[in-house]
Amino acid sequence: MDVVTIRLAEKRDLTVAADYWNAIVKEAWNEDWDRRYPNWRSMFLSVIEERMSRGLQRYYVAEAADRIVGVAGAQAGEAFFGAIRGYVEGVYVIPAFRRKGVASRLMRECIGWLRSMACDSVRLQSTSQGKPLYESLGFVATGEMELSLNAAKQSFAQTYAE
Ligand SMILES: CC(C)(COP(=O)(O)OP(=O)(O)OC[C@H]1O[C@@H](n2cnc3c(N)ncnc32)[C@H](O)[C@@H]1OP(=O)(O)O)[C@@H](O)C(=O)NCCC(=O)NCCS
Repeated sequence: MDVVTIRLAEKRDLTVAADYWNAIVKEAWNEDWDRRYPNWRSMFLSVIEERMSRGLQRYYVAEAADRIVGVAGAQAGEAFFGAIRGYVEGVYVIPAFRRKGVASRLMRECIGWLRSMACDSVRLQSTSQGKPLYESLGFVATGEMELSLNAAKQSFAQTYAE
């Protein structure tokens, strides 16, 4: 098995991060954003690049033999009553490289960076496959609740479909 190295993603790596986002939604929810939201990739790239340029977003990639085999994104959120929240997103490892600690290494980079950004906590939305990974890193389910708003859903679909 090839050696896996972890490095900070550059702008040119973000298309692979987008590919892996689509792979997550396919695996987890059997959805295909390319079919459902034809414009989502360009929106994704512009949002992430803009946040990167403000120093609030990072992606890390895992590389083996010049191929990206895993990704994870981290963003430092806006201050909330004096506390800065960190978020992790888009964690994906290709099937042939799973259960070798790749996602854990990516997550540690994300968490380390969020800590350095003075975040008070790290949050994420987990797929069922991701749960054991996050639990192994000390994440716990909280009492947070969510109300899904149709209006927001529609605007998401419209934005990405246009
Ligand atoms: C979830 C995912 C990122 C894990 O990647 P990975 O590189 O295989 O994870 P790791 O090897 O670092 O796993 C670390 C620990 O997490 C737990 N774990 C990870 N995957 C697991 C699985 N499928 N079943 C049970 N435990 C699992 C184990 O405790 C594992 O340690 P161990 O292998 O020593 O037992 C990968 O399976 C994946 O990309 N899945 C599809 C996309 C997805 O759901 N991403 C999460 C989005 S929130």
